Amino acid sequence: MTVRHFLTLKDLTPAELQQLLKRGIELKQMQKAGEIFEPLKNKTLAMIFEKSSTRTRISFETGMTQLGGHALFLSPRDTQLGRGEPIEDSARVISSMVDGIMIRTFGHDIVETMAQYSQAPVINALTDDFHPCQLLADMQTYYEHRGSIQGKTVTWVGDGNNMCHSYINAAAQYDFKLRIACPEGFDPNPELVTAHADRVEIVRNVMDAAESSDLIVTDVWASMGQEEEQRLREAAFADYQVNKAVMLQANSDALFMHCLPAHRGEEVTAEVIDAEGTVVWDEAENRLHAQKALLEFLMSN
Ligand code: CP
Ligand code: NVA
Repeated sequence: MTVRHFLTLKDLTPAELQQLLKRGIELKQMQKAGEIFEPLKNKTLAMIFEKSSTRTRISFETGMTQLGGHALFLSPRDTQLGRGEPIEDSARVISSMVDGIMIRTFGHDIVETMAQYSQAPVINALTDDFHPCQLLADMQTYYEHRGSIQGKTVTWVGDGNNMCHSYINAAAQYDFKLRIACPEGFDPNPELVTAHADRVEIVRNVMDAAESSDLIVTDVWASMGQEEEQRLREAAFADYQVNKAVMLQANSDALFMHCLPAHRGEEVTAEVIDAEGTVVWDEAENRLHAQKALLEFLMSN
């Protein structure tokens, strides 16, 4: 049987993503009802973290426990990865002992190489280019609160970063229109935009981009690894904040989402992210449920 990986949303078909979304909701209901469901008994997920994490680590580790399996936290500081053991060798060795590998790292080529040499499924838990696991949670959250996202308009505000790239893939896989409001010089990968030109457009002005939108999404101005650019980015992104005026420009039932961690007063105001009825906490919790569906899909027999 060929091993399936999850490096971007394009590794699953739109039908499989819908199946996963529904399964995430089911697994959530089962867990809330106290039902024990252990399809991954005796299975181990290796979790390699080359960048910090709160949500991703907790959701994958807890998810594996709830599914009856085990998760192994590996940091480059304590493994030979940090001392330069090649990814190819690490992939061969780690995957010979575990049933799945989750990796958060810098270059997207690293997860691609890991997948190429791994005999177990590899899950991208964030690279500089993509963060597909977050989209599983975001799409589940939208569905739970507003129903199908098909045909809706989503507005991305801010950096053309890994989250923005995954929203571009999501526009194709979940069938919605995406407007990207980013300052010049911080555009998403132009090849990705061109490849999705039928449903993705760059709109420089935030208010124009937000008009009649169903979902407004943003992310930090400086991602992990860009800490030294913080000051420069604060200046560049000053006009790219999601505030009440931006939300008022969107549809009256528009949702606001943020993958977190958030910087109140920078990419979003406290008034928006902490508004009554905010879904950002559901969005964070859904990392657990959506990824349990993914783990079951990739790792159960
Ligand atoms: N949203 C997200 O991936 O959060 P962490 O960096 O805390 O894992
Ligand atoms: N764009 C952010 C997302 C964090 C979950 C980063 O890469 O740091």
